[in-house]
Amino acid sequence: MNIKALLQKLTLEEKVGQMTQVTSHLYLKDNSSDQLDIKKLANAVVNKKVGSILNVKTHAFSLEKWEEIMAAIQKQVLKTKNKIPVIYGIDSIHGATYVKGATLFPHNIGMAATRDNSLVAKAAKITAIETRAAGIPWNFDPVFDVGRVPAWARFEETFGEDTYLCAQMAGTAVTAYQGKDLRATDTVAACMKHFLGYSSPDSGHDRTPSNISENQLREIFLPPFQEAVNRGVATVMINSGEINGVPVHGSYKLLTTILRKELKFKGLAVTDWEDIIRLHTRHRIAATPKEAVGIAINAGIDMSMVPFDYSFTKYLIELVKEGVVPIKRIDEAVTRILKLKKDLGLFEHPLVKGSEKIALNTPETQAISLAAARATMTLVKNGKGKKPILPFSKKPKILLAGPAANNVSCLHGSWSWTWQGKEVAQYPKTVKTIQKALTEKIGKENVICFSKSKYDTADNFNIKKLQASAKKVDQIVLCLGEDAYAEGPGYSPTLLLDDRQMALAMAAIKTGKPVTLVMVQGRPRIIRKLVPEVAAILLAYRPGPLGAQAIVETLLGDHNPSGKLAFSYPRYSNDLQTYDHKYSAEVQELVPAVITDGGYNPQWPFGFGLSYTNFEFGKLRLNKKHLKRGDILKISTMVKNTGNRAGTIGIDCFIRDCYASVTPPVKRLKRYTSVMLAPGEVQKISFELNEMDLSFIGQDGKRIVEAGDFEVMVGSEVRKFRVVI
Ligand code: BGC
Repeated sequence: MNIKALLQKLTLEEKVGQMTQVTSHLYLKDNSSDQLDIKKLANAVVNKKVGSILNVKTHAFSLEKWEEIMAAIQKQVLKTKNKIPVIYGIDSIHGATYVKGATLFPHNIGMAATRDNSLVAKAAKITAIETRAAGIPWNFDPVFDVGRVPAWARFEETFGEDTYLCAQMAGTAVTAYQGKDLRATDTVAACMKHFLGYSSPDSGHDRTPSNISENQLREIFLPPFQEAVNRGVATVMINSGEINGVPVHGSYKLLTTILRKELKFKGLAVTDWEDIIRLHTRHRIAATPKEAVGIAINAGIDMSMVPFDYSFTKYLIELVKEGVVPIKRIDEAVTRILKLKKDLGLFEHPLVKGSEKIALNTPETQAISLAAARATMTLVKNGKGKKPILPFSKKPKILLAGPAANNVSCLHGSWSWTWQGKEVAQYPKTVKTIQKALTEKIGKENVICFSKSKYDTADNFNIKKLQASAKKVDQIVLCLGEDAYAEGPGYSPTLLLDDRQMALAMAAIKTGKPVTLVMVQGRPRIIRKLVPEVAAILLAYRPGPLGAQAIVETLLGDHNPSGKLAFSYPRYSNDLQTYDHKYSAEVQELVPAVITDGGYNPQWPFGFGLSYTNFEFGKLRLNKKHLKRGDILKISTMVKNTGNRAGTIGIDCFIRDCYASVTPPVKRLKRYTSVMLAPGEVQKISFELNEMDLSFIGQDGKRIVEAGDFEVMVGSEVRKFRVVI
């Protein structure tokens, strides 16, 4: 198929149709979430000539239903003059969210704690296979947003606060999604999102203004997108918010100068949900919806996720005829769309018979989900004083309480069978709650649990029952945190753990029995008052369908936890510093005229996480003490498991630029890995750094390397080296 020749055949209406993406509402019957309305579908495909469709109305469809939908769409395509296949896009966010019976995985915030790219790759590959089996070739994932604002309701979708960790993990997902050939049935086109700065709204509210300096934009938020482009990501989705007063959907500088000319991105740029008309209705940089279309397309948008009507199509045709949008811009956008369809093989194979070819959620894919859930488990407190309390002796008597104890949605979070992930009825019956997993493991007679499935029900916060039951047990395990939520509806005006959960925890502590907290949550809830009082704390994040098993195995010692925080867990709500803050950010004058530092004071720092064994690092060895342009710094060390049980350790390698012409951060992550060691085992760990790793954004906004002293840090070891240019 020759794209140029096809483009020449297309009318303006057909071209603009290609740039239009509508949602499933426009092919489903009005009062139904799964009945096709063929008239509506024909209107979309034949009449309005849309190039793309996305989403489901409410919940996941079976493979068979997807096949029916895809076949119905293709039937309409065949009635059009040029028979250009429609590309379907979906949010398969931590697994194939909208394919009934698919395998789900832990959310990214937990995956980042594993420091294990291979788990990310395996989960993404399975997601690609199970998405493509539904005939869907385009996945709106992964998220390349750096999670710098824990209040933001999409924090769980990020790989945490570090730029390099986000770039590498999301980059790994892109490579696994896309494979070597987008036509293959085990690949999907990936979508780096949400370009740029989406994860840093000033207020913490989703899709609200960000003010981010040019320096921070380039230092923190841009590099992950560059990584995605370098890996050949096929598409990009744009940030719905504004940066420094300019909505990103209307920013020529961001969408063309930086994304195209600087990053050299060649793929397709799709808007986020309704974001063109919002340039008028919300952002108010356009006086009319039509003006909004002109601004966005001229800024560099290729496809509009309209998604509820055909106004975009109508306005864009008019704007081209009026000369406001040059036809060159339209041709450029349509070329990118047709190229994606061609690369995906949609012209030859518009339909995939997934249900005949693959089994979803097999023992093999579940094993990966379980391995990932285990690896996310992050132990941040174990015992008061020196004596650890975890793992429990094999069959303790346990009082299991709290809203997360008997609930499945909180284990999964956003994008789980439904957008919000909250509908317990949508979950497969086979998914275990923590209560189920625990009783199966240690027997009904050893577990008291009065928690109900409905997260918010009063029973889950019943202090009287808790006090009465505590007398009969050895241990209290309190499962707290947050129920599932996604995007805007997940906003919380406070990061504090909610009052009812705090009261329950305080009452549990007062019983005098040892209390272990299991925090099932998408963002870090502040629990400062509980930390010194409880015996142990396990962070479980959103561990997915096998999360309950992973939690129980960790508590009982069948699994040795190894998760390392991918963010600075806040102690106070007004103190949200990231680990890579500037030196002066630590300055404190708590007593007049007495200046100290130490102002980075999270509950637990980035990289923190305990194990049931101990590890020791040997001295750091460097191949050079002086580095010239183009030199490679080779770093090595030995790590030993000095305890008496096997364990995995995530290892972070940081660099500190001691002095620089733009204030340097105290340290930045440059490499990471994770290794499993048997008791007594020693392994050599090696990292290599290049010139880019020592660079920073200079005062003129350009990336530079300066001569001077640096330090490299791995584990507790630090070594100096010098850059001489
Ligand atoms: C989200 C995107 C998502 C899109 C399509 C938007 O609300 O911001 O991340 O891909 O919807 O469902």
